[in-house]
Amino acid sequence: MAKIAILGYGTVGSGVVEVLKTNQISINRRAETDIELKYVLDLREFPGSSIEHVLTHDYMDILQDDEVDIVVEVMGGIEPAYTFVKQALERGKSVVTSNKELVAKHGPHLLEIAKEHYVNFLFEASVGGGIPIIRPLNQSLTADEIYEIEGILNGTTNYILSKMKDEGLDFDVALKEAQDLGFAERNPESDIEGHDTCRKIAILSSLAFGWHVDYENIYTEGITKITQKDMVYAKAMGMDIKLLGRCKKEGDQVCLAVIPMLIGANHPLNNVHGVFNAILIKGNVIGDVMFYGAGAGKLPTASAVVADIIDASKHKGKNIIVQWSMKKMKLMPITDGHF
Ligand code: HSE
Repeated sequence: MAKIAILGYGTVGSGVVEVLKTNQISINRRAETDIELKYVLDLREFPGSSIEHVLTHDYMDILQDDEVDIVVEVMGGIEPAYTFVKQALERGKSVVTSNKELVAKHGPHLLEIAKEHYVNFLFEASVGGGIPIIRPLNQSLTADEIYEIEGILNGTTNYILSKMKDEGLDFDVALKEAQDLGFAERNPESDIEGHDTCRKIAILSSLAFGWHVDYENIYTEGITKITQKDMVYAKAMGMDIKLLGRCKKEGDQVCLAVIPMLIGANHPLNNVHGVFNAILIKGNVIGDVMFYGAGAGKLPTASAVVADIIDASKHKGKNIIVQWSMKKMKLMPITDGHF
């Protein structure tokens, strides 16, 4: 039996509960044990709901309960998430998170604490929603020297840009739709100003190159200045406007940026519409590999979280994420030659 506690019962947290219930039999078979939900931490009351009996408002209930093997952090933001996650790892509990802000800022440190305590810190859902990308970078592409990553990494902005182009919607109307569908962050500024994409490309490049890429130093431009007029011109040229996170490696330096870009009809990321994300990775041995799928939303994100719960439960006592050194990667200035 593996007992879990979920911190936060918003879009992703409720999705995790739903996935655990819907696919209970196959999940338990793959985890090689029964996964039992013991706590949900949330400040709100949920009278009559299926989580009422496991609801707590006090994190200490979870931390001090040695029966809890895995803590699932889906609250978002840095605090109190960072403190809760650190305490859980130090107490010998594995942690699964979808929190890209936390991973981009404290990933290497939390991985080190996890290693010291023979537990796991897993974050597949932190980039690309339901798309498997962290595990492939850590396991399947490790024979390669990766020299370029390019991705549509934010579902909200891709949804907005697609609606502006295909249906002529205004920016604000498309943003409201994305919020209503549960794609956007609580504060959508981090989506539309590009900060969410910036954290995600920082995580991917850190994992690909093994050294820490400081997201605060990445040149980041969002989509708030894109107008209907830009869309009309892009369309007339047979092109599309996409918010891209890009990174190129040269020697021991990388050039990174988050910028809305015009891309042509033949570009592999051109046909990625709506909430979908895609990540194109270039390796010196494998060549080009592309990952595509739902980049945000309740169930796709919960799918990645639950896959991590299964792995954490299967690999109890053994750390499965490879090194992410705290050594800082040198960032090169952006020049036309690189982007
Ligand atoms: N707000 C994020 C997005 C959620 O729109 O992609 C998934 O990380």
